[in-house]
Amino acid sequence: MGAADVIAVDTGPLVAALRGARSVFALSGSGISAESGLPTFRGVGGLWRTHRVEELASPEGFARDPRLVWTWYNERASAHRRAEPNAGHYALARLEEAIGDFTLATQNVDSLHRRAGSRNVLELHGDLREARCTQCGARRALDATGLPLTEIEHACGGRLRPNIVWFGEPLPAAVWREAEAAAARADAILVVGTSAVVYPAAALATRYNDRAFVAEINPEETAISVRVDCALRARAAELLPRILDKLQR
Ligand code: OAD
Repeated sequence: MGAADVIAVDTGPLVAALRGARSVFALSGSGISAESGLPTFRGVGGLWRTHRVEELASPEGFARDPRLVWTWYNERASAHRRAEPNAGHYALARLEEAIGDFTLATQNVDSLHRRAGSRNVLELHGDLREARCTQCGARRALDATGLPLTEIEHACGGRLRPNIVWFGEPLPAAVWREAEAAAARADAILVVGTSAVVYPAAALATRYNDRAFVAEINPEETAISVRVDCALRARAAELLPRILDKLQR
């Protein structure tokens, strides 16, 4: 997709909706970090195409082989540190400055929204900045290479695990409540870089609000494309800055 394709995408209705919005809610997924060089989960080259979810992203998998799980998450934690936020992350951070009530709920655990300057970020699936103990809940910051495999066993008898949400686990309750409320009160909802197949996160896009203008930014069709008011087929890092520019003109 080149610049000409992006220009052909009609951002007018979304810009108008953002202009009139008092409250905006954004939901992001791994696609927004694609242009930072991080893989998505389900697309070509996606993590779940070559890795087994149940081995790496479930409490059962961790109980079976914590070293395998940490080896994988350490590689991801290192990749996140090496990656830089892209123009899409920065545009969302600037949008937050321009709009009084702006909430960004992300399924990503790469911290790139925070590093780009977004402040009101709800990390629905946790983060890879910390490990936490399976037994006592103690937390420990991860360094640039993650957690040394020799330090998985915690002094209390539990094990340190990545501070992220795995399949079959509930989302952090307070974070979820805030996300639901923000989605419900929004006048405009932006859904960026997610296939919208993982619940409950995907429900935030369309289930809590039948009044808001909902726009999707994604080069591909998704599970919610038929339900949004406008599907902008473009890459986030190309389109979000253009939307911001138009809004500020
Ligand atoms: P997916 O891999 O399911 O979807 C990524 C989406 O990003 C796809 O719809 C792509 O078309 C789109 N995409 C790719 N490049 C893009 C770009 N440059 N700009 C905009 N969009 C682009 O990833 P997620 O929806 O994030 O959960 O997956 C949701 C959850 O499933 C993840 O949080 C993770 C995973 O299992 C856990 O690990 C709990």
